Amino acid sequence: MATLEIRDLHVTVEADNATKEILKGVDLTVKQGETHAIMGPNGSGKSTLAYSLAGHPKYTITGGTVTLDGEDVLEMSVDERARAGLFLAMQYPVEVPGVSVSNFLRTSATAVRGEAPKLRTWVKEVKEAMERLNMDPAFAERNVNEGFSGGEKKRHEILQLELLKPKIAILDETDSGLDVDALRVVSEGVNRVRETGEVGTLLITHYTRILRYIKPDYVHVFSAGRIVESGGAELADKLEEEGYEAYTKGGASA
Ligand SMILES: Nc1ncnc2c1ncn2[C@@H]1O[C@H](COP(=O)(O)OP(=O)(O)OP(=O)(O)O)[C@@H](O)[C@H]1O
Ligand SMILES: [Mg+2]
Repeated sequence: MATLEIRDLHVTVEADNATKEILKGVDLTVKQGETHAIMGPNGSGKSTLAYSLAGHPKYTITGGTVTLDGEDVLEMSVDERARAGLFLAMQYPVEVPGVSVSNFLRTSATAVRGEAPKLRTWVKEVKEAMERLNMDPAFAERNVNEGFSGGEKKRHEILQLELLKPKIAILDETDSGLDVDALRVVSEGVNRVRETGEVGTLLITHYTRILRYIKPDYVHVFSAGRIVESGGAELADKLEEEGYEAYTKGGASA
């Protein structure tokens, strides 16, 4: 079983001509087959963690390690990360003009699998995955993310997740515009890949509402650039009732 290990991760960004430390020693282990939720207030660094794992150039790793099965993830190019089995929803460009969803998915699958999927089985695979997500077949011919609604972006993300079958998936569910329908699509997709037992999921959110549909094995509270508490699914219920105040005293978070 593949294991993603994050040890004492420190990350800075350049903003307003100053270097700001955002992640201040993150420790986390995610194994294939496990579902983890990271929750925390706005500005605590959750998306920064996701971007850092994705290899976004804006984020500088100043300390710590990230390994997947002992291999140094931080040394890998974005493509190599995907091939190693990491799925990072946000590593993909916001808009890809002139590239259809269908071509984009095949290119991604080729990168991940190391060879182009056979056209005939691939077309069937995509069709079936789209049906499961209640997606109109015409969607496959649209340009990636061009004019996609929030819900369509999410469906596209889950479509990739199901087709690319990663070992570890990191999903940043920050979009406050998700309606019940999109929420259900994301949840069902995540639960489907979870049932295979072959995908480890790290779900980042500040809402507990998605956790009504996805029961995480582990919940971690993120505050001021670190994980400050970990527990089981019951921790999410506690956060729903009590909020994050207990974790943010001292004005550590925006
Ligand atoms: N590229 C950047 N340039 C400048 N500041 C940044 C950048 N990325 C993150 N930050 C700052 O780092 C802090 C953490 O931001 P981040 O987006 O990681 O928080 P978050 O926990 O995902 O919040 P939210 O729940 O609102 O999505 C914020 O103060 C943010 O302004
Ligand atoms: Mg965020």
